[in-house]
Amino acid sequence: MTAPNFYELVGGEPTFRKLVDVFYEGVAEDPVLRPLYPEEDLGPANERFRLFLIQYWGGPATYSEQRGHPRLRMRHAPFVIGPAERDAWLRRMRVAVDALELDPEHEAVLWEYLERAAHFMVNADESP
Ligand code: HEM
Repeated sequence: MTAPNFYELVGGEPTFRKLVDVFYEGVAEDPVLRPLYPEEDLGPANERFRLFLIQYWGGPATYSEQRGHPRLRMRHAPFVIGPAERDAWLRRMRVAVDALELDPEHEAVLWEYLERAAHFMVNADESP
């Protein structure tokens, strides 16, 4: 028996499904974020993000089987992500994380990661 990983500890697939579903509900009505998404249907973007997070936290590696190496900075290069986009993303993500009602310890781990990753994705000084 190996110790449960973070993916298992927080409830596995349903937890990440809920996180990303609530996040994309927010994106759908966000005037800063929604125009960035190239497709009208947010479903495929939802699935890519969910599979990425599942893989990152120790669940099945379906993301890389379908998409290859994440290369997230490179994949975000087509989108102008300045401080305003980053902050809008984090606001929507905060709502999604709160909806999970995780143990405070797990919530802090997840949030610190998301905050750090969002800052890492910034590729422009100013919003257009
Ligand atoms: C894809 C925006 C931060 C993970 C995308 C896409 C957009 C976007 C517009 C394309 C949607 C699509 O898949 O068709 C943003 C903005 C961010 C941000 C504005 C603000 C900082 C992040 C962070 C992560 C992340 C922090 C990871 C923790 C992903 C993944 C994809 C994606 C996994 C799909 C990549 C692929 O396989 O093509 N993002 N993103 N994003 N984003 Fe972000």
